[in-house]
Amino acid sequence: SEQRSGPSRNEVQAHRGASAVAPENTIAAFRAAAEQGAEWIELDVALLGDGTAVVIHDVSVDRCSSSKGNLGDLSAADLDKIDAGAWFDPRFNGEPLPTLAAVVSALGELGLNANVEIKQHPHHKSLDQLVKTVDEHLRARAPQTEIMISSFDAAALKRMHEINPSYELAMLWSKVPDDWREVLQSIPATTVHLGYKSLSIGFLEEAVRHGTKVRAWTSNDPRELASFWHAGLTGVITDDPSVYLS
Ligand code: G3P
Ligand code: MG
Repeated sequence: SEQRSGPSRNEVQAHRGASAVAPENTIAAFRAAAEQGAEWIELDVALLGDGTAVVIHDVSVDRCSSSKGNLGDLSAADLDKIDAGAWFDPRFNGEPLPTLAAVVSALGELGLNANVEIKQHPHHKSLDQLVKTVDEHLRARAPQTEIMISSFDAAALKRMHEINPSYELAMLWSKVPDDWREVLQSIPATTVHLGYKSLSIGFLEEAVRHGTKVRAWTSNDPRELASFWHAGLTGVITDDPSVYLS
C-alpha cells in the first residue's frame, strides 16, 4: 500500500477556522483558513433560545465574546450587540458571532468545505429541531461546497442519517470505546474523529480493516501524528493549518 508521511491537502481541517491566528468560529477565522490554503474548516453549531442556528463552541458567549449570556437566553436580535472578535485581538473588533446561515454563504464565497460539528446542549428544545435546522441551512449551500457532519452525540448523527443520508458522518470520541464498531453500525457512520492522544497503531489497523476512516483532533504539531499516517490515519483537525500544509 501507499506509504504516507502526512495528510493530503484535502485532509487538513482548520479547527474552528484558523483559530490560532483569528477568533475561533468566526468568518474571520474561516477566511484565515482559506488564506492559509486549507480546503476544509471544522465549526461548531448550536441553537439560540429562539431556534436560530449559530456557530459557537460553548453553551454561553462568555469566553469568546465581549458579552455574557447563555445561548438559550439569547435570540437573533441579540447578535447585533455581540462582538466575537475583540476578546482575541483588537484587530478583530466588531467581528460578528455568525449565524450558520452566514457561514454557509461564506463557505461558497471562500471556496471552503466544512465539517459541521453538532453540539447538543441542555437548552435545546429537541434533537429533531436541532438536526433539521442544521440540515435545512446546509441544503442551501453552494453546489461545490462539500459537507461532513460530526458529533459527540450518536443520536444526533443517527437522526441526520434519517433526514438526509448524503453526508459523511463522523463520531467524535476523546477515547475509543470498546463497542466502537456497534456504535458506528447503529448510526450508521463511516468515520471516527478521535482525540489525537488516544490514537494507536493498533486501533488504526483495526479501523482500516473495518473500512472506517479516522481523523485526529486537535493537533498543532506534525510530530504528534508523524507515526500514524502510514498506519492509515485519514486526516487532521488543527488550529494551525499552515503547519500541516507546508
Ligand atoms: O471536531 C473536533 C473537535 O472540534 C472536537 O472537540 O470541543 O473542539 O468541539 P471540540
Ligand atoms: Mg468542534
